[in-house]
Amino acid sequence: MKKTAVAHTNIALIKYWGKRDEKLILPANSSLSLTLDQFYTKTTVEWRTDLDADRFVLDGEELQDAKVTRFMEIIRKQFATQQYASIVSENHVPTAAGLASSASAFAALSAAATAALGYDLSNEELSKLARQGSGSASRSIYGDFAIWEKGALADGSDSFAHPLHSNLTKEIAMVVAVVSDKKKKVSSRVGMKSTVETSPFFTAWIERSAVDLEDMKRALSAGDFVKVGEIAERNAMRMHATTLGAEPPFTYFQPLSLEIMDIVREMRHNGIPAYFTMDAGPNVKVICLRKDEQQIQTRLKEIISQVYICHAGEGVKVVNEDE
Ligand code: ADP
Ligand code: DP6
Repeated sequence: MKKTAVAHTNIALIKYWGKRDEKLILPANSSLSLTLDQFYTKTTVEWRTDLDADRFVLDGEELQDAKVTRFMEIIRKQFATQQYASIVSENHVPTAAGLASSASAFAALSAAATAALGYDLSNEELSKLARQGSGSASRSIYGDFAIWEKGALADGSDSFAHPLHSNLTKEIAMVVAVVSDKKKKVSSRVGMKSTVETSPFFTAWIERSAVDLEDMKRALSAGDFVKVGEIAERNAMRMHATTLGAEPPFTYFQPLSLEIMDIVREMRHNGIPAYFTMDAGPNVKVICLRKDEQQIQTRLKEIISQVYICHAGEGVKVVNEDE
């Protein structure tokens, strides 16, 4: 059977950074994100008896992708099938540039692959499955805000995401400044591993991110945007600080990323509540209120050409092939 699914990317306000189990992709800390409406992946999966290996085509190009191959093995094992699949995917987001293509990718692949096997999985099951492709994909199963609970069990059965309601969903915006849409040098997977293994700051990061998460949950439920922005910004900076302590040290910051951070601080000084966050790449996401998004986009366009305004997006869904 052949099925297509669409999933949107998500950007963490409390970052996932570090694994406690690399094989099952179990995180060392819980994380919280906003799913975005503008960036998504659309993936079609067809299980076929005539293939002797999976076939993966991304944006029209046939690729050998270790993450995808590994994930398809997990699906074959979990759902007891010996068939291989044809996977055809489109990224409406730059690939591997720190804009969370792996989140939308593995959420869409999980939904399409299981639907094509005839399963109608719950969101919780889909989240657990997507997690094993890429941790952040566990959160892209849901629209709006989502929390991925790290869980405590060794088999990962309690490590999945769930939605979080906040009345800020309708007001919040993310203005995404694309500093570079090229594939980054240090993938999230490699960067995280090196940080866990070598950075003396990692323990402090884990301790503080638990506090940040509790503060963030309170701020979201109170609808306190300023607090949300402040906590998200400090959490991102703490995550990035761990990379500077790694051996060898590395950073995702580029000169332009730092320049954008300064502009955000300057706007804040001038009365616009705007905060930044960054992931495993040089791109900066400005967290703001919808009423200020145009002004922020215009200001950023003075120094950078690709600036996108995003709002809260939808969770994963299986769609008709012609949609
Ligand atoms: P990003 O910041 O974009 O999430 P990562 O390095 O974490 O970067 O993940 C990028 C990886 O995700 C790619 O190298 C590939 O393995 C996988 N990926 C990206 N897009 C797709 C897709 N549409 N389908 C399957 N896998 C994908
Ligand atoms: C900085 O989910 O891409 O974006 O689980 O190894 O595939 P793997 O990593 P991935 O890491 C995301 C890291 C981050 C923070 C976040 O999204 O929470």
